Amino acid sequence: MRDFIYYAPTQVVFGIQSEEKTGKLVKQYNGTKVLVHYGGQSAERSGLLEKICRMLEEEGIAYVKQGGVVPNPRLSKVHEGIELCRKEKVDFILAVGGGSVIDSAKAIAYGVPYEGEVWDFYMGKAKAKACLPVATVLTIPAAGSEMSNSSVITNEDGDLKKGYSNDLSRCKFAVMNPERTFTLPKYQTACGVTDIMMHTMERYFSHDDDMTVTDAVAEAVLRTVKDSVFVVLKESENYKHRAQIMWAGSLAHNDLTGCGTTGDWATHQLEHELSALFDVAHGAGLAAVWGSWARYVYKENVTRFAQFAVNVMGVTNDFKSAEDTALAGIEAMERFYHAIGMPVGIRELIGRQVTEEEIKLMADKCSLGGSATTGNLKVLYREDMENIYRMANK
Ligand code: NZQ
Ligand code: ZN
Repeated sequence: MRDFIYYAPTQVVFGIQSEEKTGKLVKQYNGTKVLVHYGGQSAERSGLLEKICRMLEEEGIAYVKQGGVVPNPRLSKVHEGIELCRKEKVDFILAVGGGSVIDSAKAIAYGVPYEGEVWDFYMGKAKAKACLPVATVLTIPAAGSEMSNSSVITNEDGDLKKGYSNDLSRCKFAVMNPERTFTLPKYQTACGVTDIMMHTMERYFSHDDDMTVTDAVAEAVLRTVKDSVFVVLKESENYKHRAQIMWAGSLAHNDLTGCGTTGDWATHQLEHELSALFDVAHGAGLAAVWGSWARYVYKENVTRFAQFAVNVMGVTNDFKSAEDTALAGIEAMERFYHAIGMPVGIRELIGRQVTEEEIKLMADKCSLGGSATTGNLKVLYREDMENIYRMANK
């Protein structure tokens, strides 16, 4: 097992009606003027937003609201938020929503105390030294941003989708009431589960084979959400299974499943170019490229793919051929994606094949013009990225 530092400082407040504690929590973390940040309609429609505002009022905490964050959150909205926070002297940001709202909140939180352009952080041109406190009332288990140190923002100028990771932006607290996820459409539920599994798998597929405890946690997370998703797709108000998925979403991306491993993250990088160009849901984009990535790289560690096949996908071990077992696991994963309504190719994702120019453009952006690689299990160069996009073009 590799050396590691495990840091997960977010206070998790999980359970029925947990959002009722929000006002007191903001007070506990010294928020006196809050930006309540939210998305399109879901939090308003469900009455959650109104409830949160009431909780703040009951604690005598002043607030301003800023909604309209879209999936694949935009830099222009972040700029608006920074301006609003400065004008209103906001000292605490509360994200009511999913990964997009939380990531937008984190970007605003970096931007308020920074004199330069916040996008510099995302382009690797500067490192944040300060950040307003951020917290969340989570409404969709998926991105894991409630406990991660990352924020992913899309700059409309050039369709650039970039992530920035810094512990300063980790949520002070995350309120998670699985009841709040009952209203999720089937498609968003499936996208969320795909992302949760992928966060675990990005850490699982590595060259590090001596991490039994971490593997056991990862495989449990994967098996749990893989089973629970079928229940909630049929019974959207099944609390027990919504709760499993919600907690798994945080465990999958708070690094618990990465202790002692290097992680790969190539599928995520390849997907970010798809959602930057075609504005697709992140989870669906991951499903569209994963199988092609897996077939491209599995020979780097056949045993690991075979272990995944048997322990996660329930494939019978073919003792004569680890390779056949590994490939059967990849096929089983793709059958699973189809069964929950996810695509397993780019044509299935966007309704048409991508052109050769689009493949080259995505690979070029993903490799920063050929100067950067991605992935660890197999280090991918621009040409490898193009090859994987071509394989996934179905
Ligand atoms: O905008 P509203 O109306 O709220 O609708 C949202 C949105 O359309 C809807 N939704 C959320 N909660 C709901 C609900 N609808 C009904 N009932 C509810 N309770 O779901 C849609 C998707 O929301 P979004 O926040 O975009 O989803 P998700 O949590 O999957 O976040 C995706 C973003 O996170 C980034 C992705 O790239 C993408 O931009 N990621 C962030 C990470 C991080 N910060 O650590 C890691 C991930 O790998 C990922 O890259
Ligand atoms: Zn993800």
